[in-house]
Amino acid sequence: MGIPLEPASAIPERRHGEEDEFRTLTKEMDARRRGEGALEGVKRVVAVHSGKGGVGKTFLAVNVAYALAERGFEVGILDADVDCPNVPKFLGMRERLYVDERKRFVPVRHRGVKVVSMGLTRDDEGEPFLIRGPAKHRVAIDLLMGSDWGALDFLLVDLPPGTADVPMSLFEFGDVEGILYVTTPQKEALIDTRKSIRMGRTFALAQIGLVENMSGPIFGRDRALALAQDEGIPYLGSIPLDERILSMNERGDIAFTDVSLEPVAAPIVDAVARPRETGR
Ligand SMILES: Nc1ncnc2c1ncn2[C@@H]1O[C@H](COP(=O)(O)OP(=O)(O)OP(=O)(O)O)[C@@H](O)[C@H]1O
Ligand SMILES: [Mg+2]
Repeated sequence: MGIPLEPASAIPERRHGEEDEFRTLTKEMDARRRGEGALEGVKRVVAVHSGKGGVGKTFLAVNVAYALAERGFEVGILDADVDCPNVPKFLGMRERLYVDERKRFVPVRHRGVKVVSMGLTRDDEGEPFLIRGPAKHRVAIDLLMGSDWGALDFLLVDLPPGTADVPMSLFEFGDVEGILYVTTPQKEALIDTRKSIRMGRTFALAQIGLVENMSGPIFGRDRALALAQDEGIPYLGSIPLDERILSMNERGDIAFTDVSLEPVAAPIVDAVARPRETGR
């Protein structure tokens, strides 16, 4: 016979203590940053999320950002994946972030879009960044609040997967207005994405909609439609699993600006750009 598991509520006092300490530290830091005008010029913070890894969050965040920039908006991208930052890889960037005299990160301008990523702070071609717990949250929040974004219409936040850690901290403290969800059609991805949709609801953030990525004969098609309907959020269509998309991603090109993807990209970009009542 096995040993019964403790109910979650009975698990570690100490963990709750650490959580409280993190909240206090973060709130203090947040208040200080706000006092210094962090995010003052940023009109809308939009996060791209999924409970599941590898479904196309970074692909979508980067592509929506550049599509918005093409429409004339002033746009930034925060790569909130602290230990495995992929945004610079998708953009073929090798520049370095630097810090100004007020100790703020100066975003790197890449084809008109302002980018902040841990991948721009170090040689990121294989050396692991070993970091855990509150330190990781602090880095993510510091990259958001401690960067000199200037005036932005949109700040796209590329999140790591899951319903804990960094996504949770940014939803709580990051002035996020709305969330764009992405899933692939596989069963596990749909299950984990449902969790992230419900997480977004818990934090009362605007639910921009759900995109199905990597659709086609291999993983299936329009299986995310039922999930969107079931959760009562807009379904924004499907993007095919396509080797041309992969090679554009790997070359640092923006697939959404390719005319053949225009019909797929437009409803997604429209949904992000649409004015919402639930502002910050
Ligand atoms: N529609 C597509 N067709 C072909 N390849 C794609 C498509 N969408 C994404 N990819 C590729 O799939 C891989 C995973 O995408 P991506 O890195 O954006 O996922 P992610 O959700 O951000 O992953 P992680 O959870 O690790 O952050 C990348 O190699 C990307 O170029
Ligand atoms: Mg990613």
